[in-house]
Formats: sequence, structure tokens, C-alpha cells
Amino acid sequence: MQVLRKAFTQQLDQSVTAFINSVDADQALIEVDIQGSIAHATMLCQQGLLTQAQAANIVSGLQTILSEYHTGAFVLNPVFEDVHMNVEKRLEQLIGQDALRLHTARSRNDQVALDLRLFVIGQIAQHKAQIAALKTAINKSAAENIDAVMPGYTHLQRAQPVLFAHAMHAFIELLARDYCRFEDLEKRVAISPLGAGAQAGTGLPIDPHLSAKLLGMQSCFNNSIDAVSDRDFAAEYLFAASMCSVHLSQMAETFVIWASREFGFITFSDAVTTASSLMPQKKNPDPVEIVRGKTGGMIGALVNILSTLKGLPLGYNRDLQETKEPVIKVSHELSGSLNVMAIAIASMSVNADVTLKAASDPDMITTDLVEYLVNKSVPFRRAHEEVSALVVFAREKAVSLSALTLIELQQFSKEYEHDALALFDPVVSVTAKTSHGSTGVAKVQAVAASHGL
Ligand code: ARG
Repeated sequence: MQVLRKAFTQQLDQSVTAFINSVDADQALIEVDIQGSIAHATMLCQQGLLTQAQAANIVSGLQTILSEYHTGAFVLNPVFEDVHMNVEKRLEQLIGQDALRLHTARSRNDQVALDLRLFVIGQIAQHKAQIAALKTAINKSAAENIDAVMPGYTHLQRAQPVLFAHAMHAFIELLARDYCRFEDLEKRVAISPLGAGAQAGTGLPIDPHLSAKLLGMQSCFNNSIDAVSDRDFAAEYLFAASMCSVHLSQMAETFVIWASREFGFITFSDAVTTASSLMPQKKNPDPVEIVRGKTGGMIGALVNILSTLKGLPLGYNRDLQETKEPVIKVSHELSGSLNVMAIAIASMSVNADVTLKAASDPDMITTDLVEYLVNKSVPFRRAHEEVSALVVFAREKAVSLSALTLIELQQFSKEYEHDALALFDPVVSVTAKTSHGSTGVAKVQAVAASHGL
């Protein structure tokens, strides 16, 4: 039994129905659709467009549908095209004629825009909580390994010793930006489009500001055409989610490298590693690899929505239906990724002896030698050249820099004294850093303390 076809002489073709319906995506919107309808009915009642009895009947019918959904009894039928018509039809079965008044001064165009906004608001709240939990897991790992020293890398080449905690605190910074991006986005999502109708508003005495308030939205639309066609918030959400996912992917890649036998800096517990079907010795970090693997799809969803929006003429266009699926899919994937990453980090142990050994490579102390000379008033560029010459000398002699004698050092700069030999120690190197935001031990301890762990 198809809906809304009294003015038509034919039924909608079956395969066309199968093609245009959006019940799969709408599964995720049932709760917010009902929430929006309850607010709409309440507003209609306040404005005298529904009697108290009609409104009460509608609200209680909607609540019944919500409980039916929770028990699995309310299932969307593709013949009714979308969640909106499914709810309306079920409401009519439940409460009869009063159901026919719910859609007063409303179109599915403002209704679906509202649903997607409410859905995104809920997802942002969840992502914020998950990012906070992930930050806590990272802080905890940093605090528990506050003394661990490891090589810091540029170009994936050993650069200078850093504290493991400093690297973990760097991840906190990325996530803090992701959190702020979601938070900032909230004010552009929490704008109610309800009351815009199909695109022109209505002559009926509705109060869109009241609907907005009832829904806890921060504001109400300004322009009815824009209200039904604006999906900027969804594109922005997908950007914020993609950016966050790119950060998770970078973290995942870093951990996969650190967990390799070649590095051996960290070990994931068995709770987050998987076996090989062929090689008995394997313990693979598949969960974080999948976090990395999900990112491409999220970036794809962002490109998807932007491509959909770019060709649309002003006003509601049915193409907008296609903006729901990427948002819903990404919200699910990002939640999963944030969750798994927090579990992986909580289960990760740091092999501080291995990181210290790798950080003890004397080549990484050359910058400290340069700073030693600068402290003796040698111009920086000259100090850099003198240490470069020292590096070449050691290489040609095939010895480690730390094996050179003071006399040999002094061939390259007369400023070297006995204390220069003590620089070849990664702990000395990280302790010596004092600048703002550096890996200096005191700085990193202060950051860890500011995180409350
Ligand atoms: N099912 C549509 C969607 O999900 C909303 C319906 C609007 N359809 C219309 N013909 N005005 O976006």
C-alpha cells in the first residue's frame, strides 16, 4: 500500500520504489525523527493548531512507536519511502484520525533536515566523550612511562632523543584540536530548520522559535529556502570526522612501526592483537591497522557529500537524501575507531630498555654538541660546520662519535672541554632541553602534571 498517491493514476514502479527509498539509512534516524515530531506537536498545541487532547494522543502514540523501535517491533517498510512516512503511518494505526494532524505546517523537507541535525548533535556529543577518554588513555600511558627515552624522528630518520611521554603528549594536541573542531561545529549544527515547510514557510500561526527551544537547539533558521537545503553542517561534520580519523590513522601508523620487531618500542597485549591463519608465531596489530584503513572511507564520505552538494540548484533537491548515508556511516566508523584506539593504548606496554638503547645512538647528540659550542660563543653556523666535520671524521675512522677522545674533538674546535664527553647520553640530552613546549624532562613532567595524572 503506497502513500501520498491520491493524485496519481498509477502506482510507483516497484523497482523505482526500491531505488528511491531511504529506509536503510533512516534506521539511524528513528529516535530523532520521533523527538522532532514530539516537539512539533507540542508547538502546534501551544499555537492552538492542535487541541490538548489531540496533542496528548499524538505524543503518546509517538512514544509507543519509540518503545516498539526499542523492542525491535517497529520496522521501516520501504514502500513508505522513509522514516517520516513510516512513523506517520504507524501513528495512524495506533491512534487513528488525530495522526492526520501531525504534519500540519511541516514538510518532509524541513523534517529530514532537522533529523540529520539532531543525529549529528548526538554523534558530536559521543565523539567528544570518546576523544576525552582517548586523551585519558594517552595521558596515562605517558605518565606511567614518564622516564622512558626514545629516538625522536624526522623523515623517519633518527633525529634527537625525546621522552616517550613527549611523543604521547603530541598526540594529545592533535586530539584536542579535533575536540575543539567538533565543539565549534555544534553552534552551526544546532540550528532548527523546523517550520520552514517545503521551502516557503506557512500562513498557519506556527512558532519555529518555540520548536527550536523545545528541541534544545541553540537557534532557529533565518530563511526557509536555506533551512531545507543547507547541509553545510553535514559536510563540516564529515571534515571534522575525517580530520580526526586522519589523526587516528597517523597514530595507528606510528604504533604499528613502534610495535614491529625492528623497532620493538611497544608491545600490544593479546587483547588487541590477532593471529595469522598460516604463521603460528604471528601477533598482528590488526585493530589499529583497521583504524588506519577506515580513514580512506571517511575521506571518501567527505568528497561524496561535497560532490553531491556542488551541483544543486537553490532549494530542496532529492539528491540531499544521499547526504544521510555518509554521515551515518562515518559516525559509526569514527566511534569505533576512537574506542579501539583507546583500548589499544590502554593495553600497550613500553619497552623502555629498547627505546633507551635506540636513543643512545651517539649520532643523535650532534645537535647537543652544536649547542655546547654555541654556549661557548661559537656562531651557530660555524658550530654546525665544525660538528659536521667531526661527524665525517668519525665516519671515515669508522668509530662512534662517543668513542672519540677529547684531543680528537679539540681538532675540530678548541672550545671542547672534558664535560663535552658527558653529552653522549640521551637522558642528559632530554634533561638539557628547557625551551617552551620542548621534550625537556621538567617541561614534560609539568605537562603530565597539568593533565592531572
Ligand atoms: N526521504 C527524503 C529524505 O530522506 C525526504 C523526503 C523529501 N521528499 C520530497 N519529495 N520532498 O531526504
